[in-house]
Amino acid sequence: MSWEPDPTGARLGDRSLFVGLEPFAYVNHAAISPMSGEVRRALFAVMNTYSRDGLSAFLTWQPQRERLRARLARLIGADPSELALMPSTTRTVVDTALSLPWKAGDRIICLRGEFPTNVTPWQRAADTFGLEVVMLDADAFRTDAGLDALRAELARGARLVAVSAVQFQTGLAMPLGAICEAAHAAGAEVFVDAIQAVGVVPIDVRALGVDYLGCGSHKWLMGTEGAAFLYVRTGRELVPRTAGWLSHEEGTRFLFEGEGHLRYDRPLKRDVSVLESGAINGLGFAALEASVACIEAIGVEAIFEHVQRYHDALEPGLLERGFVSERHATQRSGILSVRPPAGIEVGAIARGLRERGVACTTPDGRLRFSPHWPNALAEVPRVLAALDDVRG
Ligand SMILES: Cc1ncc(COP(=O)(O)O)c(C=O)c1O
Repeated sequence: MSWEPDPTGARLGDRSLFVGLEPFAYVNHAAISPMSGEVRRALFAVMNTYSRDGLSAFLTWQPQRERLRARLARLIGADPSELALMPSTTRTVVDTALSLPWKAGDRIICLRGEFPTNVTPWQRAADTFGLEVVMLDADAFRTDAGLDALRAELARGARLVAVSAVQFQTGLAMPLGAICEAAHAAGAEVFVDAIQAVGVVPIDVRALGVDYLGCGSHKWLMGTEGAAFLYVRTGRELVPRTAGWLSHEEGTRFLFEGEGHLRYDRPLKRDVSVLESGAINGLGFAALEASVACIEAIGVEAIFEHVQRYHDALEPGLLERGFVSERHATQRSGILSVRPPAGIEVGAIARGLRERGVACTTPDGRLRFSPHWPNALAEVPRVLAALDDVRG
């Protein structure tokens, strides 16, 4: 592998790494990030190696994935041995939900309003293992009422709290430290869906006390779909119910070392990499290292501040036009969501904006803007002008 990430072209407010990106304001990173030239360079490097070498490219790219694991661990304050490379955020939840050492009757606290990724797998685990899912209201965490309701529910007994770091519709950053503290005090653990946070909101799993965290690449990490990672805090026990051929120690020896190594009794790996059960998305994980290197070079704190300046510029213009902001005074993220004035349909506005070069989305009736490090503050007046044009 001669490829190395090169983040030297990554600068706040400068989209010159995104040659060919059509919308003049791509404020849709909470949906899918466009690919930078650096991501494309990584993808071509993998493709070129496989085109030339076939099987041996598999071995060539293995060290790159270990380098990525170390970078991802650094990004969230974890140890590389606590991370598994996975195919999607959803699979991180599914595999965790299937692998916890449940006891019949265990209770799981989920939040109404969350993306279904962090609810469906817990419901399926409840059906499979005889558990109970209790729903609280995510939006209640705008005030202390959310934590009060959580503590009351925890007092009834719970094994796990499943929460997103940032709510996908409203952009509300959840009080993860307080949630983990309350959960641990009651003997419960916390699973965090962090795909709407990592890359734009600083996250330190150790300082927050997070037990499990899943995150995909294609939003704020600016990689591709089909690559994700799972953090499992050291000491948390998994029952390897989703293990596969690559979950064994020395599981590939039979391919390379001649006769007599094909065995089914090799011990399973003891850390979270036991969940890396089959062939891995080499393209996606090379792309992810390219995009994470850019994020690291700029710094997540600087990106967060930059995005807040963008929202600070955009929000007043939206309020003047009758939209109602859902941005919290302190629990902020990369997402600025607004509700439309009465009688206005957000789908039509988003389509009109798209035709005028502004890419945003409409989760559950909100107009959602999600800029990242390449967005320039100078875009904002043009975004508002496009909005005026759409509304006539
Ligand atoms: C909070 C949240 N979790 C999970 C997902 C889906 O992630 P994946 O497709 O990686 O499973 C999304 C959006 O697509 C999301 O907003």
